[in-house]
Amino acid sequence: MVAVAILAAGRGTRMKSRLPKVLHHLSGQSLVERVLQCASVVQPKRQLVIVGYGSELVQQSLAHLPEVEFVEQTEQLGTGHAVQQVMPHLQGFSGSFLVLNGDVPLLRPQTLISLLQTHQENGNAATILTAQMPDAKGYGRVFCDGHNLVTQIVEDRDCTPAQRQNRRVNAGIYCFDWDQLMQVLPQLQTNNEQKEYYLTDAVNYLSPVMAVDVDDYQEILGINDRKQLATAHDILQTRIKESWMMAGVTFIDPDSVTVDDTVTLSPDVVIEPQTHLRGQTVIEAGSRIGPGSLIENSQIGENVTVLFSVVSDSVVQANSRIGPYAHIRGHAEVGQNCRIGNFVELKKAQLGDRTNAAHLSYLGDATIGTQVNVGAGTITANYDGFKKHQTQIGDRTKTGSNSVLVAPVKIGQDVTIAAGSTITEDVPDNCLVVARARQVIKPDWRPQAQQTNPEQG
Ligand code: UD1
Ligand code: CA
Repeated sequence: MVAVAILAAGRGTRMKSRLPKVLHHLSGQSLVERVLQCASVVQPKRQLVIVGYGSELVQQSLAHLPEVEFVEQTEQLGTGHAVQQVMPHLQGFSGSFLVLNGDVPLLRPQTLISLLQTHQENGNAATILTAQMPDAKGYGRVFCDGHNLVTQIVEDRDCTPAQRQNRRVNAGIYCFDWDQLMQVLPQLQTNNEQKEYYLTDAVNYLSPVMAVDVDDYQEILGINDRKQLATAHDILQTRIKESWMMAGVTFIDPDSVTVDDTVTLSPDVVIEPQTHLRGQTVIEAGSRIGPGSLIENSQIGENVTVLFSVVSDSVVQANSRIGPYAHIRGHAEVGQNCRIGNFVELKKAQLGDRTNAAHLSYLGDATIGTQVNVGAGTITANYDGFKKHQTQIGDRTKTGSNSVLVAPVKIGQDVTIAAGSTITEDVPDNCLVVARARQVIKPDWRPQAQQTNPEQG
């Protein structure tokens, strides 16, 4: 049986942030979400997150994960103290107990699996993940005998200059035998520079404790400040983009593109420069996104192009052409073979197949049929200052340039709306509707010279 505890109670002072450190985001997920996701690979029976600073915020942010339990550490007296708080919650538990630092977000699931395997196969009291770090500054140094058995872990600030030369560092990722750890947790002392209870001191009381080096030191980079956050972002982005390239996605100038790892792409998708794909976005085969586009929480069908546009919380079906300069948002749905672009905004609008809105429009709270031509400058006036209202437009209808459709209003099928009309009443099928003042021509008319007032001189 496996239980997992994630240390997430610290403030993260070096972030200089009001937000608890573990809630800072990295490519679409918070640090703590990332760590939890990684931990899920070992199918833990229990998942405990130790919270303290900003406890409510952390709990809210994980409310979508019902299997996660929270353990309060009201005072942050160190990583050992944090794990002590777990004891009453794991009464009667027996088995492997994984501890992960909430600020080490780049760990690969496979690494955690190997750590657990090594731990169980060797019957260790504890197994700790280590790395040979090019720049070990800030990390605890791990000292071993010739058989990878740990003799001591010394925090950077507690190291002698000679100890500081050791580049083998503690990742902050441990596997303990719970029964044995429980015996020694109460014995931890605070005789160190920070006067804290260090979890790393538990190794002094346990035996055998084995160290396992991770292959790629980047996996265990801890986030303590914004510089490290940016470095982690770069590493993660490279990982994400390279794995999509291996899966058949083309990136033109990948350095200028960001992709959250919650995004799903298909083979033969082409991502052009300056494009950002975020959240629960799915892009189907053959689509070309960018240059200069942002797609967030949206589904893009096959062979769609999106050029210099923003699509959020929306759906675009196959073969449609979006942009340049379209904004599709708020649960809009664009059918197949549509054309939306040149300064067009869609908000909560459903458009049927082969419908075009090609120039300068706002379509909000609208249901629009198939093969509709939305003329340049057509606006749905959906807001009366208090409420939003619906507009409906039937199949094959054409709205003239600069039409204003004052909602609530329903326009039938095969209607032609004359340019410049302001439509305030429902329109039946199969008709021409003209709703504007007639043009008046006054023959032989010239502007009159203004009469001067003699008194004013
Ligand atoms: C810790 C390790 C260090 C290791 C490094 C790896 C200790 C004593 N040191 O140092 O050996 O190289 O991680 O990144 O464990 N936390 C709590 N409650 C507390 C204190 C901390 O929950 O009372 C949490 C923090 O929120 C954070 C994690 O524990 O997620 C690590 O704390 P941090 O202060 O960043 O430890 P480091 O100094 O980085
Ligand atoms: Ca840290």
